[in-house]
Amino acid sequence: MRSEQWIEFLDRRGERRRAPVRISGSGQPLLLLHGYPLDSRMWVPLMERLSPRFLCIAPDLRGFGESPEERLGYELDDLAFDARRVIEAIAPNSQLNLCGLSMGGYVAMRYMSAFGESVDRVILTNTRANADDAATQKVRRETAADALKHGAEQTVAPMLTKLLSQRTVESNPSAVDLLKQMMFSSKASSIAWAQLAMANRPDSLLELASWNCPTLCIAGADDPITPPEALQAIANRIPGASIRIDPNSAHMTPLESPDWFASQVLD
Ligand code: MLT
Repeated sequence: MRSEQWIEFLDRRGERRRAPVRISGSGQPLLLLHGYPLDSRMWVPLMERLSPRFLCIAPDLRGFGESPEERLGYELDDLAFDARRVIEAIAPNSQLNLCGLSMGGYVAMRYMSAFGESVDRVILTNTRANADDAATQKVRRETAADALKHGAEQTVAPMLTKLLSQRTVESNPSAVDLLKQMMFSSKASSIAWAQLAMANRPDSLLELASWNCPTLCIAGADDPITPPEALQAIANRIPGASIRIDPNSAHMTPLESPDWFASQVLD
């Protein structure tokens, strides 16, 4: 890993912020937006493979990883704006490759909505474009309340079995360990704010039709959270988009199958 840097910036509401950012490689910038309840470490295996071709830039989103504890609520548009500020600091005036997994994919869609003209290519992985229905929003609000009442660990634990395929669990202990480290070091407030922000996110499906940059959608065949159909629905809307499905992964395709994922990106 080339470096971990702290980037200082003014956020969408004019507040001063600091974001820890993992950076490696050289070439055209590739912004990597992590999922929930994770952090930039989830990208390390992929960054090792893509660094010869790209300047990989992976921030810890608000409240996650090394990022300071988040005391106020936010919208996913705030996270997209934070990511834009990070890119302006590290790779100003460059056309961007944008990649987001799950919650990071939701943020990538908000990034496209606000800053799409500065993006060259997009990868959406293990994510969905539709907004939550009322039942899912209710579960998210309950999860947020649970996290604040009972703590992060108890709240995120049930998610663990949904994230990795059986094959990964049996054959890739370092991915399992890394995932546990990320999940079980997440903060209760981060769980709560992220759940509320995801519950309130707008539907991005209609906007996809206006994207005019090459887009690659990637799914894990065994993903119970954002199954291949969710990625297919995205690919169907974006002119010229393509979809690839990894037979060996569940929800964490870049972490579970980094060689396969890197070869799809480089293809
Ligand atoms: C994620 O992996 O980022 C989350 O599962 C997304 C979600 O809860 O919708």
